[in-house]
Amino acid sequence: MKQLIQLRINGQAYEEEAEPRMLLAFFLRETIGLTGTHVGCVVGECGACSILLDGRVVKSCLLFAVQANGKEITTVEGLAQDGELSPIQEAFVKHYALQCGYCTSGMLLAAHALLTRNPDSSEEEIRRGLAGNLCMCTGYTQIVDAVKAAAGEYKKV
Ligand code: FES
Ligand code: FES
Repeated sequence: MKQLIQLRINGQAYEEEAEPRMLLAFFLRETIGLTGTHVGCVVGECGACSILLDGRVVKSCLLFAVQANGKEITTVEGLAQDGELSPIQEAFVKHYALQCGYCTSGMLLAAHALLTRNPDSSEEEIRRGLAGNLCMCTGYTQIVDAVKAAAGEYKKV
C-alpha cells in the first residue's frame, strides 16, 4: 500500500505517495522528475546518487523514499540560484572537473557539503570528503583542484 510522503526538495514543499519499497533515488527521478540525481551501482558504492538530506550527504539508493518523510532534501538542481551557477559548479566548469558527467551531481553535492562544513579543508580532507564518490573519467586531480578553488567563495558566506 502506498504511503504519503511530505518533504521539502530544493526549498519547495511536496506531498506525494510512494510504495514503501521505492528507493529515494527513484522517487526523486521518477516521481518528482529531478533526473540530476544519477543512479549507478544501487548498492552504495559509486556515489552518483548522492544528495543532501537535512544538510548531510547521503546516498539516495540506500534509503527508501518513505524515510525522507518530513526531511529537507537538496539535489544538484538546487545548487544554482536565480539562474546563476553556484561557486562549486563554476569551479568544476573552470577546472575541467568533468568529462562524461555521470558522477558530477554527486561530486558537486559532496564537495558543497564539505566546504559548507569546512571551507578551510586541506587537500587530504577534500580527498577524504570525496572518497565515497567514484569517477571513471577524470582521475580526480581536476576535481580536487576545483574544490580547492571554490573554497574561497564558501569562506565569504
Ligand atoms: S547508485 Fe547509489 S551509490 Fe551508486
Ligand atoms: S566524469 Fe565521467 S564518471 Fe566522472
